[in-house]
Amino acid sequence: MESIKNYISEHKERFLNELIELLKMPSVSADTAFTQDVLDTAEAVKASLLNAGCDVVEICETDGYPIVYGEKIINAALPTILVYGHYDVQPADPINLWTSPPFEPVIKKTEKHPDGAIYARGACDDKGQMYMHVKALEFMVKTNQLPCNVKFMIEGEEEVGSSNLAVFVANNKEKLANDIILISDTGMIANDVPSITTGLRGLSYVEVEVTGPNRDLHSGLYGGAVANPINVLTKMIASLHDENNRITIPGFYDKVEELSKEERAEMAKAPFSLENYKNALAIEDIYGEKGYTTNERNSIRPTLDVNGIWGGYIGEGAKTVIASKAFAKISMRLVPNQDWKEITELFKTHFESIAPKGVTVVVKPHHGGQGYVTPINTIGYQAASKAYETTFGKKPIPQRSGGSIPIVALFEKELNSKTILMGFGLDSDAIHSPNEHFGVWNYLKGIETIPYFYKYFTEMNS
Ligand code: BES
Ligand code: MN
Ligand code: MN
Repeated sequence: MESIKNYISEHKERFLNELIELLKMPSVSADTAFTQDVLDTAEAVKASLLNAGCDVVEICETDGYPIVYGEKIINAALPTILVYGHYDVQPADPINLWTSPPFEPVIKKTEKHPDGAIYARGACDDKGQMYMHVKALEFMVKTNQLPCNVKFMIEGEEEVGSSNLAVFVANNKEKLANDIILISDTGMIANDVPSITTGLRGLSYVEVEVTGPNRDLHSGLYGGAVANPINVLTKMIASLHDENNRITIPGFYDKVEELSKEERAEMAKAPFSLENYKNALAIEDIYGEKGYTTNERNSIRPTLDVNGIWGGYIGEGAKTVIASKAFAKISMRLVPNQDWKEITELFKTHFESIAPKGVTVVVKPHHGGQGYVTPINTIGYQAASKAYETTFGKKPIPQRSGGSIPIVALFEKELNSKTILMGFGLDSDAIHSPNEHFGVWNYLKGIETIPYFYKYFTEMNS
């Protein structure tokens, strides 16, 4: 494919500037203060798809934020690729830990990104990665090299659970019909170690509330004589793991898929430096379930983590008080075969059962989704592998990720299609954290690689 490299070097500045404009829009789906910005971002995505050469682009209303749908159908007899991505971003907090404002993108050089990286919320997750597809389409359309049909579905609620997307997908199966789904919303091992994500974990996210006395109490007058909801909650949470860091919820591991020795040996071949891992996070030692390696703990094993905990007095100075209530947000990452609704029920039953008398416990399920594993003996995987080989000069390694994109399992169920996860971010890109960034090299490499996927997938299908 002559000229994708040339096209990129010719249009590189514009490709970067367009992404920077998109990143200036604070499309935080979790916070209603940004409602108008999220809606404006949907319009900007629509405009970019029209500019890139889609024939039709619609803003599809939902009960939440709209889904941007675009398509270019060149011949019904050719395969159709459905690109999915999201234009919403995580909240930027804590803002004071950013070295530059989250919605004022700047390019800075880093150790991992000597060519520079764009710093902004959403740079990698997922605006930068989604926009690679828009620019790859532009290239294919403008140079008459689009080999197949393409549909785009870019949503605005991924970071808050995609609940309206599920409804949209169920109601628009015909419109969304495709031969393969293509997503860039994951990462790869390193710039010189390309990898393709073959698995995602499922998720169950719950919030718990522990109530003790009917009002906040003086901790001297009542302390020691009534259950303190914060003491109780922390004790209950601590009991959710045993001495081997295994989760104690009865039935939690019942359906967990155990990998064979061979599969684990295969996984262990992926390059990994424990020293670098610890240094990058400034931790003295790693932690986790006994009997598993770090790469296993964060991909093929289920986990439970407190994401936030609050209650009582957290203002300046001291206040002697026993709070009436304590709260926590808890996420469980799940592996294939674990059903997120079943796990949510198991959690609820168990958590309520371990509450001592003197407090009441309420467990509120938030959202969740199933895990996903994709086989590598498919045309889709082979086409992706060949695309990476072409642009990286080496075969990519299949790798399961610890993150979740719950909608992927749903796509398979509703649309009956497989998903290929071509992620170009690095774990060190700080997604969801302060100082999120996306390598300029990675952005351009993604744009370069995607058209080859289209080409090989179409060839392999004929
Ligand atoms: N893009 C991420 C998921 C991801 C990142 C998967 C890196 C693999 C590697 C996505 O935007 C995300 O953050 N998902 C959430 C789940 C969602 C239901 C809020 C997650 O994994 O926490
Ligand atoms: Mn994402
Ligand atoms: Mn995310």
